Amino acid sequence: MPDRRPFSEEERRGVYRAIYERRDIRSHFLPESIPPQVLGRVLDAAHHGPSVGFMQPWDFIIVESAAVREAVHACFLEANRSAAALYTGERREVYDHLKLEAIREAPLNLCITCDRSREKGGGLGRQTDPATDLYSTVCAVQNLWLAARAESLGVGWVSILDFDRLRAVLAIPTHIVPVAYLCIGYVSEFPDAPVLETAGWETREALARLIHFDKWDGCDAQRATELFDVPVGGTAR
Ligand SMILES: Cc1cc2nc3c(=O)[nH]c(=O)nc-3n(C[C@H](O)[C@H](O)[C@H](O)COP(=O)(O)O)c2cc1C
Repeated sequence: MPDRRPFSEEERRGVYRAIYERRDIRSHFLPESIPPQVLGRVLDAAHHGPSVGFMQPWDFIIVESAAVREAVHACFLEANRSAAALYTGERREVYDHLKLEAIREAPLNLCITCDRSREKGGGLGRQTDPATDLYSTVCAVQNLWLAARAESLGVGWVSILDFDRLRAVLAIPTHIVPVAYLCIGYVSEFPDAPVLETAGWETREALARLIHFDKWDGCDAQRATELFDVPVGGTAR
């Protein structure tokens, strides 16, 4: 008889708690450094993410140096100027008040990359969709993000970057893709809701509207709503 190794009720709640209470953090970072063993645990959580063909296409660049972080911050400023210019009126007003990175305040930054030419995995699963190596890397990011929440570490993903400049700053070879640039550290608080929601930028879509039964045109809001009568693992924002 195979051992199904079920989670206890408490363990199950813990998993859902990490999922619902994970937040993208760009403020309230504390200066205290992350103990090496804690950093090791969240990196190992990332390394246990799923990957196409078991390719494990990721590498992790740990950025501690204030000088390097300052240079990366310049990559953000440059990209953010262009990004902000795309908005006008009220939207621009809200955008300009958003805090979209914590590159200098967070004690540690982490760049997670994807080596698209890595031979591990033997190409299994990639013939039909070459982008699966990038998806795999994102799975590693999410594992790290959840493990970090369980370790009381805040993580903020910064995608508003001039990536050519970032490559130069971090000396990333051309065949390596920088997938995620993360700001990590202990924080004084985890907000209840996404910061973009609180700031009035965007709201969470009603999940029932996104569910299709059997085919794309098989939306049935009534039936979908019934799925959510009982909240799993508590109430999520
Ligand atoms: C691929 C990706 C890129 C992101 N880039 C940024 C960014 O550049 N700046 C930022 O403030 N948040 C960024 N975020 C965070 C999102 O804004 C955030 O996940 C979303 O608002 C939901 O909030 P939550 O993560 O707290 O649930 C990014 C998230 C993802 C998944």
